[in-house]
Amino acid sequence: MSTVDWESLRRQAVAAAASAYCPYSGLRVGAAALCDDGRVVTGCNVENAAYGVALCAECTMAGQLRLTGGGRFVAVACRSGEGELLMPCGRCRQIIYELGGPDCLVDTPRGVLTMREVLPDAFGPEDLP
Ligand code: THU
Repeated sequence: MSTVDWESLRRQAVAAAASAYCPYSGLRVGAAALCDDGRVVTGCNVENAAYGVALCAECTMAGQLRLTGGGRFVAVACRSGEGELLMPCGRCRQIIYELGGPDCLVDTPRGVLTMREVLPDAFGPEDLP
């Protein structure tokens, strides 16, 4: 996978945010990932009356990865419904790391970075016995 169409990925993240269920925070979040087979999977946040149970957009995107054929994340973009760049929260960085590894690319306010940079010294599958 040599090139990533970041503008398309960002647009698809914004489009996914339109499906968000966020009656509590009011923040629509969308995530889009290019996968290693070239397809794009997306996700949106799904909140809950028990606030802490909310699913982040990256979580539902991880489900989509598995439900639509598996594989690995190559590049990830997260955006609000209004198009603002949002960084994946700490838990979601761990989820992206699991399914994309240290070389997975992430759209950040500092430009495109690797997961190695976004989650340094990560705990990962290689740390398990
Ligand atoms: N949220 C995400 O979807 N992804 C993140 O990485 C950070 C936060 C959602 C969860 C909640 O529905 C809303 O943003 C406000 O925290």
